[in-house]
Amino acid sequence: MFSKDVYVKRRKELASKVKSGILLFLGNSEAGTNYIGNTYRFRQDSSFLYFFGLDEPDLAAVIDVESGEEIIFGNDVTIDDIIWMGPQPLMTEKATLVGVDKVKAASDLGSYIANAKNLGRIVHFLPPYRYHNQIKLFSLLGVDFNRQRELASDQLIKGVVSLREIKDSYEIAEMDKAADIGYAMHYTAMRMAKPGMIEQELVGLMEGIAISNGHMPSFPIILSQNGETLHNHTHHQTLTDGRLLVIDAGAETNMHYASDFTRTIPSGGKFTQKQKDIYNIVSAANDLATALVKPGITYTSVHLAAARVLAQGLINLGLMKGNVDDAVAAGAHALFMPHGLGHQMGLDVHDMEDLGENFVGYDEVHKRATQFGLKSLRMGKTLRPGHVITNEPGCYFIPALIEKWKREGINNDFINFSKLEDYYTFGGIRIEDDILVTENGARLLGRNRLPNTPEAVEAEMSRL
Ligand code: GLY
Ligand code: MN
Repeated sequence: MFSKDVYVKRRKELASKVKSGILLFLGNSEAGTNYIGNTYRFRQDSSFLYFFGLDEPDLAAVIDVESGEEIIFGNDVTIDDIIWMGPQPLMTEKATLVGVDKVKAASDLGSYIANAKNLGRIVHFLPPYRYHNQIKLFSLLGVDFNRQRELASDQLIKGVVSLREIKDSYEIAEMDKAADIGYAMHYTAMRMAKPGMIEQELVGLMEGIAISNGHMPSFPIILSQNGETLHNHTHHQTLTDGRLLVIDAGAETNMHYASDFTRTIPSGGKFTQKQKDIYNIVSAANDLATALVKPGITYTSVHLAAARVLAQGLINLGLMKGNVDDAVAAGAHALFMPHGLGHQMGLDVHDMEDLGENFVGYDEVHKRATQFGLKSLRMGKTLRPGHVITNEPGCYFIPALIEKWKREGINNDFINFSKLEDYYTFGGIRIEDDILVTENGARLLGRNRLPNTPEAVEAEMSRL
């Protein structure tokens, strides 16, 4: 937990951004995996953590914007709980740690909200993403399950985003820590990967490092020789010489700040020339994006600059054709990179995505594109000091997508379809780093950078 003042200041700033009413925050509850008592690893809601700091289940909190009153709702443990969980501080003691002096029982939330509604007060709530909190919202406010995201408070969402998206120095220190754990995960995978291993063996090693150094991986690890499937969560294949292995994984610290890195390695320790050619293009796109990031430019412009590097590289290899600017304007490169260059990161690996991607990555001035590829860019708006973003260009050969474009003649002028058949078993390459926007430019998070050239990756893989 950060110091009390951090939470007090955050809540005060948030309250000043919302004109009137009650701000309601629902913490998360335990969730059963296969029966109630056998739970998933507990993860607190990130906005609750940000404003109220307490990292335990079954809490809720309110801020009365007009009176300034703040209350945490939660129960003290009973003797039965102590038998199973050990002694716990009182709720009042815990609330004091985050600067809240009023505590009520969890069951008092219902009457508190009912009273506010009777008085005609607006109750602002955030869009729920867990069924438990959807049920709670329905019973507290009677909001239909299917309309809860739509009826969530834009004012509150915008206020929360405006605070959470600019990281303070003590948050950046946590994110540097998350990066270092992420590096250890990736270095271990690079050194341990050998033909004959099953992908899940590497996943287990990486998860172990995340758990022994922090809370857990920041998302389910993506590790697959079918890297052309962007979020591939199957891990049953045997590592085979000649194939590429995409590893996309990061860690979350005990304070729940995230990292997110991708490296692509040759399963047998050596890249083929064909693989190196594509790797070098993706690496150049990643390098250019890092060099461009600075306050005042949009991330859409960085995405498009990386797209031009990708398209030019593929033109040079004969896989694309025509004028690079025209090709990118037409979205032809998206056949090979159908996703966006990156996303914001913080307490969530896709930061605040629960609040709505467009509230986080776009604003009144910058609207999300509808073109295939560009529409998947989660962060498009102007960069500011304190933003943390990922930089993750990729190049994939997705046979079903290539076949579809070929059949339908999509971007015929820019794609050499006949040359692509040789790449149907290539897989994909993605290279991802985490970037902090600073006052004058940017820096990568963490102590060092994971290998990002074919030679450096091969050298790391051959180390004993
Ligand atoms: N690292 C997974 C993602 O960014 O979607
Ligand atoms: Mn990412």
